[in-house]
Amino acid sequence: MKELKILLVVVFFALLTYWGVEPFAHSKMHKHVEFKNFTYKDLPALSKTGDASRGKALVMGAGACVGCHSIKVAGVPAPMSPNAAAASYGVNPPDLSDVGGLLDGRFLAQMIKNPVKALNLENKFDGKTRFFPMPAFAGAGGNKDQEVADMVAYLKSIAPKEITPKEAYVTTCGRCHANRYGKYEQIGFVPKTKSNIKTNQDVDLLKFKENVGKYQGHLADYLGKLPPDLSIIVRARSEDFLKTFVEDPQSQLKGTAMPRVGVTKEGYEKVMKYLDKTGDPSKPARESLGIKVIGFFVIFTILALLWKRSVWKDLH
Ligand code: HEC
Ligand code: HEC
Repeated sequence: MKELKILLVVVFFALLTYWGVEPFAHSKMHKHVEFKNFTYKDLPALSKTGDASRGKALVMGAGACVGCHSIKVAGVPAPMSPNAAAASYGVNPPDLSDVGGLLDGRFLAQMIKNPVKALNLENKFDGKTRFFPMPAFAGAGGNKDQEVADMVAYLKSIAPKEITPKEAYVTTCGRCHANRYGKYEQIGFVPKTKSNIKTNQDVDLLKFKENVGKYQGHLADYLGKLPPDLSIIVRARSEDFLKTFVEDPQSQLKGTAMPRVGVTKEGYEKVMKYLDKTGDPSKPARESLGIKVIGFFVIFTILALLWKRSVWKDLH
């Protein structure tokens, strides 16, 4: 009888924590953020159909995009080194080759018309005391919405059909976040080690490290802090946090300097594939091992049953 009472008390408190306290604490610690599936409906849809060839002329000309951005697939090299760019703008502008395949169309249009609004950084760059380094497109003399649509059409037309997870990461996160396990720093992939015979030092590697240090200094000045290395972020943060945060950083961290980067759902999934690989490299092996272990137990069970039958058959 006494045991039963103790049991009831234990059960009562367990249920109270489970239904009363835990959900309450959870809602306090993790605020609920509505996930919008990377649709960016707060930005206006493109009202015009773009023309890629006119867009090309604008991107290369009046739009001034190539004054700051490289476009490797179109043979446009970077106008300056990552460090010279970061010294001027705080951060190295990304190559525009694959943005049309990774970023949302509404977002891209808004990025051209009003970058601060697209990036959701109006709290930081008020346009009076603090200015965003990328200027809003002022128009090239024609219908501005048409011109913007043309540039978006051009960027979409040049994006490669196949974009690897690594490339998606470099374009959308790489200018700010290093990934040590992926041997990636904000200015590029770490050069393969090859030491100098005379000095036994790897000069290229030392030079690279020096440049990384300088770049990170500019970046920290621009953003207020150095963005964290994302090698193992998939272990530190939940899937739910990551997708809602990348969709709109302000929703989770009011006042953060991280911009909304405007990835599509597919673009986000590509980036996550890369982060899964660096953060949990043994996942594919583990999963395939799981199937093998289950297979082993199935076969083992069948064999055991057969064996049991054959043993008992003789005893009856
Ligand atoms: C004066 C230099 C400058 C010019 C001109 C410029 N940009 Fe940028 N752009 C930048 C910088 C700097 C960034 C990175 C800003 C950041 O991450 O805070 C950027 C970022 C971007 C991004 C990435 C947005 C994201 O969140 O992923 C796109 C896309 C882009 N620019 C497109 C363009 C296009 C198209 C043009 C021409 C209409 C253009 N830019 C003109 C400097 C420039
Ligand atoms: C223009 C620079 C910039 C770009 C581009 C950028 N981030 Fe960030 N990110 C930041 C900064 C700055 C912080 C630090 C935020 C803070 O503490 O306020 C940050 C923080 C984060 C965090 C940590 C949040 C936390 O509290 O644990 C994650 C996760 C993250 N970024 C993911 C990404 C991903 C994924 C991409 C690419 C799709 C990306 N970021 C692109 C600047 C950037």
